[in-house]
Amino acid sequence: MNLHEKRILITGGTSGIGLALATQALRRGASVLVTGRRKAAVDAALAQLQAEGGKVHGVAADVSTSAGRAATLNAARERLGGLDVLVNNAGAVRAGRLETMTDAEVDAMVGTNLLGPIFLTRDALPMLRASGEALVVNVSSGIALVPMPFYAVYAAVKAAVVRFGDAMRRELHGEGVNVLNAYPTATDTPMMKTGNPSVPLEGADAVALAIAEAIEQGSRELIRGGEARLQLMAQERSTPETLDARFAAMKPTLERAVANHHAL
Ligand SMILES: NC(=O)c1ccc[n+]([C@@H]2O[C@H](COP(=O)([O-])OP(=O)(O)OC[C@H]3O[C@@H](n4cnc5c(N)ncnc54)[C@H](OP(=O)(O)O)[C@@H]3O)[C@@H](O)[C@H]2O)c1
Repeated sequence: MNLHEKRILITGGTSGIGLALATQALRRGASVLVTGRRKAAVDAALAQLQAEGGKVHGVAADVSTSAGRAATLNAARERLGGLDVLVNNAGAVRAGRLETMTDAEVDAMVGTNLLGPIFLTRDALPMLRASGEALVVNVSSGIALVPMPFYAVYAAVKAAVVRFGDAMRRELHGEGVNVLNAYPTATDTPMMKTGNPSVPLEGADAVALAIAEAIEQGSRELIRGGEARLQLMAQERSTPETLDARFAAMKPTLERAVANHHAL
């Protein structure tokens, strides 16, 4: 897909990967709508994005609530005049042992990473169908491919959202709506500020550029993390017990390192 003059909605587009992708889309001549819950962050992102000189809009809305999703799609209708690309990017994470998670923390991860994208995609479909050449991008995580201890709920919802995407691609085949699933590796964004400090981070600009190029190439998936990620994926399929042993060896260190990872 050529992004020139396309209308693109990026949930969680006020920060990190979403903000960097908004920049890439504007540079390619798209009209962009970014969302986030905090109005001040929306305003700050708009100020930054307007410097790119394109058509950019923002709305403060929570993708995990029906009112927030309705406000998001109303803004797409009114300010973009429709929708060609929906990027389900807003994300929430809380690491730690399952038995330490509150109901509210589990709900936040499920609501933002999974139910939000499902309902937003469903409700955006009339606009996406009207586009004639539309795309849904789901921003998942490498953790969906190689699940880690202390991220059980996050791994579950990030894996679920790409299976949702794959099923939707098949459901919508030949109907003008395609699906791209993106799996970032650990990325240098506010979400990782409280994450494992010893993990190397990829820059958000590089991830966003790769997503923009995957959109242009019509790819069905984008996996970041290079050869190391591909090797772990192969191991996960062929000899998962070797990964069980590897995680077992690092369990106490890992549990301490991710104890404060919290971005809900
Ligand atoms: N950073 C990583 O290492 C990494 C790795 C793999 C995958 N990912 C995924 O990449 C995506 C982007 O993450 P990021 O690292 O760029 O995070 P980030 O910099 O923390 O940005 C998250 C964005 O989502 C918004 N947001 C959070 N909850 C929301 C909600 N309920 N409704 C609407 N907006 C919401 C935030 O704004 P407000 O706080 O104002 O709502 C912000 O704009 C996420 O899906 C994340 O899971 C990240």
